[in-house]
Amino acid sequence: MPAAKILVVDDDKNLLELAKTRLTASNYDVTVALGYEEALDAAKVQNFDLAIVDLRLADEDGMTLMEKLHALYPGIPVIILTGHASVEGAVEAMKRGAYTYLTKPFDPRELVLQIGRALESCKLATENERLRGLLKEKYDFANIVAKSDSMQKVLEAVSRIAKTDSTVYINGESGTGKELIAKAIHLASDRKDEAFVAINCAAIPETLLESELFGHEKGAFTGAVKSTKGLFTQANHGTLFLDEIGDMPLSIQVKLLRALEERQFYPVGGEKPVQVDVRVVVATKKDLVEEVKKSSFREDLFYRIHVIPIVLPPLKDRVEDIPYLVDHLLKKICQQMKRDVKGLTPKAMEKLMQHDWPGNVRELENTLEFAVTMTQRDIITDDLVLQTKISTTPVHTEDPVQAQLLPVNGSFKTLKEARSEFEKAYLVRLLRSCNGKATRAAEIAGKYRADFYDLLKKHDIKLAEFKRFN
Ligand SMILES: Nc1ncnc2c1ncn2[C@@H]1O[C@H](COP(=O)(O)OP(=O)(O)OP(=O)(O)O)[C@@H](O)[C@H]1O
Ligand SMILES: [Mg+2]
Repeated sequence: MPAAKILVVDDDKNLLELAKTRLTASNYDVTVALGYEEALDAAKVQNFDLAIVDLRLADEDGMTLMEKLHALYPGIPVIILTGHASVEGAVEAMKRGAYTYLTKPFDPRELVLQIGRALESCKLATENERLRGLLKEKYDFANIVAKSDSMQKVLEAVSRIAKTDSTVYINGESGTGKELIAKAIHLASDRKDEAFVAINCAAIPETLLESELFGHEKGAFTGAVKSTKGLFTQANHGTLFLDEIGDMPLSIQVKLLRALEERQFYPVGGEKPVQVDVRVVVATKKDLVEEVKKSSFREDLFYRIHVIPIVLPPLKDRVEDIPYLVDHLLKKICQQMKRDVKGLTPKAMEKLMQHDWPGNVRELENTLEFAVTMTQRDIITDDLVLQTKISTTPVHTEDPVQAQLLPVNGSFKTLKEARSEFEKAYLVRLLRSCNGKATRAAEIAGKYRADFYDLLKKHDIKLAEFKRFN
């Protein structure tokens, strides 16, 4: 077992030194902070198992600090230090969740004893939580980082509704984890051993989407040489995830509405209705209320799918998740890249905490992946995160991606040509950085595997050529 990490906060330097010596000798991993700000900075970049806080800090009230720590780490035991004169304050602190208090000057042996007890009781509490089958263990939510209140609420909602068959509507900016939550809903439901079938409604041309969803009979249209089962049928008894539903063409919306209402549908060219038992989860980053107002989304379908709404907050509104996400994503990336990067410098972490994250968790993941690729050490320094600024006035460049923006011989390419060249250059670079691992590359590109393969085919890119970088 690694040594428990303890944060000691006091504005008395001597006391801090004494505590550090004493607790280190008792095999604890000790960090000291001279005040509120320093303590919070430390708490944001590493996880502590316990905190010892002076009730009277020069820059802030110790009680406020305790509450802040509890918000960051629910359940962390806090031991309050106090002078004889302010025992009342310490009692008040206990009412508000402190584990215990010691009056100064305290006996170091007593402190060590209390720390041992606090850590033990904390371990028991965690164990109890586990035994009571709390969310994480019960539903295999282990891969979802959700420290913030807003994400905790999302997970609570997920566990509450997973076992019903109601349609779930997930709304959130790009990269906020919509697909992750959709899968979690499936895994937490009684359908978990059946198929989870996903389709990106924005990626499939209107003419194909209907047959993709509902299947078609042989001869239903040119090229329909044999009948095919649609995704609704493939998802029978399982979950169908309709991603980017806001981009579904109106003509298909009508058919989807009917399928949801009647729990049956007609394959393209078919005369016999097909009945299925499917749980539908939809997701969109659009504001569907607006789309309804603009008449690009059917109001009746909106009400039909908007049964259980789950809103994923943007990352900038839940910064307290960032250190945990960093921890989680770093491990994931290191495993995939077979690297051993242990963490970030405090300065690098601070940069991440202050960024706006328009691309949300996916952007964070890409940022870390870039940093892991670039770093020569086992720690990520601040110069490796969020440095890339896209120049708005590209000059001569060898960069194939930027080169697409430049006029050729003074005249511009058509947008279509430029776009296609950009796409190809992007794919080549992406595959190079993923060593030809298509699953990974598709994930980073935000594409389904099948769509990704189609793109490779379109540009005549051979995966095998990238594998040699392995
Ligand atoms: N709370 C979280 N905990 C751990 N990983 C997360 C979390 N949220 C998102 N991720 C990771 O971030 C990436 C993006 O998530 P996901 O694909 O689910 O987002 P999305 O909302 O569907 O994005 P888009 O709108 O671009 O399709 C994935 O690799 C996912 O595993
Ligand atoms: Mg998605």
